[in-house]
Amino acid sequence: MNIKNVTVIGAGTMGNGIAHLFAQSGFLVNLVDVNAAQLEKAIQTISKNIDRQISKGTITEEQKKNTIANISTVTDVAGGVKEADLIVEAATENIELKLKIFKQLDDTAPANAILATNTSSISITKIASVTKRASHVIGMHFMNPVPVMKLVEIINGYATEQAVTDSIVELSKQLGKVPCVVNDYPGFIANRILMPMINEAIYSLYEGVAGVEEIDTVMKLGMAHPMGPLQLADFIGLDVCYSILNVLHDGFGNPKYAPCPLLTNMVTAGYLGVKSGEGFYKYVAGSKDLTVSGRFK
Ligand SMILES: NC(=O)c1ccc[n+]([C@@H]2O[C@H](COP(=O)([O-])OP(=O)(O)OC[C@H]3O[C@@H](n4cnc5c(N)ncnc54)[C@H](O)[C@@H]3O)[C@@H](O)[C@H]2O)c1
Repeated sequence: MNIKNVTVIGAGTMGNGIAHLFAQSGFLVNLVDVNAAQLEKAIQTISKNIDRQISKGTITEEQKKNTIANISTVTDVAGGVKEADLIVEAATENIELKLKIFKQLDDTAPANAILATNTSSISITKIASVTKRASHVIGMHFMNPVPVMKLVEIINGYATEQAVTDSIVELSKQLGKVPCVVNDYPGFIANRILMPMINEAIYSLYEGVAGVEEIDTVMKLGMAHPMGPLQLADFIGLDVCYSILNVLHDGFGNPKYAPCPLLTNMVTAGYLGVKSGEGFYKYVAGSKDLTVSGRFK
């Protein structure tokens, strides 16, 4: 399958990174968001992130110009997908929204276009079921920040065709990433393994086995993790961790995946980690210091 034109749906944290990556690799990208201000912000973020690459000497001013020139911004989905060979959906993680978007993509995108989703936890098979091209629907799960993180977790839905998987594997390599193909079961591989680890770290804190710093230090220095599980949970967003644990819990019907009551309380109270300013740690804008939240001292 010859992929030249790529449409990215959603210009948030992941969408801008995905658009940046494709454009820098020479693809023509339509970046679509229902929110025009978000599109403007995405281009500014991409430009700032490329400046950082320039200062590290990994790309040139000329490449920056070409990358930005490869991206067009669009607010209307139907207009944005007309010429697409591949669509990567990175809109808000909400199942009703994704099903609605995929129905619309199926109606408006060229018949042979591959429809990929960057979902962290929603079933690819379920998303594919609202289209008439389940064989061409696949998960393409990039990690945050997209231009930096090497992995693409490729998820085969129940009906995904082998030729489509092969194309996405080849394409991921072309983007300089390392693809890993997995099957569509709750949490795929990344979150099925990561989220129970984070939940167990929260349980250890909740039961008083150790403090925030001790738990993170054991995992950083003992297991060579670059970031401890509680800091990582703050970075991902405690609401996101909570919602993925519920997907695992519902999908497998196994109580071992139930979110720790401490996590439930923190999410209910709005202590969501970096994005709200406090989770297991306290975050002060402009400061890189990592201070344990007063609640856990
Ligand atoms: N943030 C992460 O670390 C991360 C990592 C891997 C995967 N993901 C997945 O990537 C997807 C996007 O996450 P995010 O963190 O970038 O979210 P985000 O909230 O930063 O961005 C979502 C964007 O989607 C836009 N949007 C909503 N409805 C739309 C529609 N109908 N058409 C077009 N755009 C629409 C919103 O305006 C927003 O700009 C989710 O499925 C999430 O699970 C996120």
